[in-house]
Amino acid sequence: MNETDFGHAATGPHKIAVLGLGHVGLPTAVGFTRLGWEVVGADEDAAKVELINSGKVPFFEPGLDDLLNWSLASGRFQATPDVTEAIRSATVVFICVGTPQREDGAADLSQIEAISRTIGRNLNGYKLVVEKSTVPAITALWIQRTIQRYSALKASEAGGNGSGKAPPTGPESLAADFDVASNPEFLQEGQAIENFFEPCRIVIGADSERARGILRDLYGGLRRPMVVTDVTTAELIKHAANAFLSTKISFINMVTDICDAVGADVTRVAEGLGLDPRISPAFLKAGIGFGGYCFPKDLRALAHLAEQQGVDCSLLRAVERINSQRVEVFLDKVRNSVWVISGKKLGVLGLAFKPNTDDIREAPSLKIVDTLLKEGAELRLHDPWAMPAAKALYPPEAGRVTYCESPYEVARGAEALLLLTEWDEYRHLDLGRLRDLMQVPALIDGRNFFAPEEARRAGFSYAGMGRRGVSPYARELAASGQSRPATPVWTGMGAGLNG
Ligand code: UDX
Repeated sequence: MNETDFGHAATGPHKIAVLGLGHVGLPTAVGFTRLGWEVVGADEDAAKVELINSGKVPFFEPGLDDLLNWSLASGRFQATPDVTEAIRSATVVFICVGTPQREDGAADLSQIEAISRTIGRNLNGYKLVVEKSTVPAITALWIQRTIQRYSALKASEAGGNGSGKAPPTGPESLAADFDVASNPEFLQEGQAIENFFEPCRIVIGADSERARGILRDLYGGLRRPMVVTDVTTAELIKHAANAFLSTKISFINMVTDICDAVGADVTRVAEGLGLDPRISPAFLKAGIGFGGYCFPKDLRALAHLAEQQGVDCSLLRAVERINSQRVEVFLDKVRNSVWVISGKKLGVLGLAFKPNTDDIREAPSLKIVDTLLKEGAELRLHDPWAMPAAKALYPPEAGRVTYCESPYEVARGAEALLLLTEWDEYRHLDLGRLRDLMQVPALIDGRNFFAPEEARRAGFSYAGMGRRGVSPYARELAASGQSRPATPVWTGMGAGLNG
């Protein structure tokens, strides 16, 4: 890689610490290294740190291993399990720790709180503390208050133990030298590197000119549009962005069910919608719904916050409800194909919550696998990257759960093939070969990945999500003599085996 690509030499005064080396932290750390900054990445998980320092990425993210190795070789990046030392060595501290979900749907901010206390106790000069993890609005205010409180506490301990410093008169009396800013991440798993270097926008939320200046500086090499706001607004941009994208997906999934009911094709509806620049084609892919670490929990956290503030968030609740129903809609299609699930050998293609990741957190596939196993199916599973994670949840078990080396192995003897993740690897499968290996050539496509005509030509009965078919409603219309354009056989809910 060419050091000058980003127009920034490694002479900047800012030393960065990235706290938390997960799906967000690690790409952020090596991304900033590539931009020319000196970066230390800290994570309490010593085994993970050792792996990273040896040039290995603890999860699958395309392009990240190359960038990690480049960063290590540059001498400007290293990982450490010593979070305190990382904080003390840096002038800019990015918080990238997890914000999981609490039982009540709110974000669990205990890791953010703990790290804020550690930062407070280790303020050894000015620091800009940047929230990168997705957090509900006003979290920055809490971070600020916590750092202030614990830095004052540390100073007062120091004053009281013979350090010679005068003890403060109250916790707020010490003006600790720091700022808290929000710089939300919009990294998509599977595209994190691309998203880091070519973001559609960089959101900078800061309440001081000094903080704004540093963040502008850090990202200056990218020359991308910047939205500069106050901290709370930046926090809300992130949550609102995720909620909006989730809403788009649930909207098209609702339209999908209407398509199934009236015999229309949702992929063409999405095409017709997406060409309107006010709508755009992105995030209009219908199917078994959204999963992953962000959308489901961020949606619930925003709804929780809105409810707490007395704001009507029934829209968000509907988005969530529609999404959670997707799995049932899909399972009905499976039942319509195989009838009784018990004792059926079913092939499953794809387990990750989306392609190009080995992540199965909140993946719709998990609920589908769960239900099929409960109903007594024998599953043959494949995913290019997510099988190790799946094995930890569903260990191989003869006659019940079999992990297969290839999609063709999945098809062997199966009575239906279920597509749950649209991996590129599946794009050029030999459908004729798959069909020949199966007991019953039925294809139930949870992501509208295959072309129905091609699948049917290869001898499959095909059921997609909201793909064109003749619905009972259309049949009734035809029987009553009213005109309606001819459409191929009905393949949605209520489809016959040969649909
Ligand atoms: C998301 C946001 O896109 C990203 O900006 C944020 O920083 C983190 O959360 P990610 O979870 O990696 O990223 O995945 P994304 O590509 O957004 O997909 C989320 C889910 O929605 C996946 O399960 C995907 O299959 C589903 N999806 C996406 C659809 O069902 N239809 C679509 O049209 C798009």
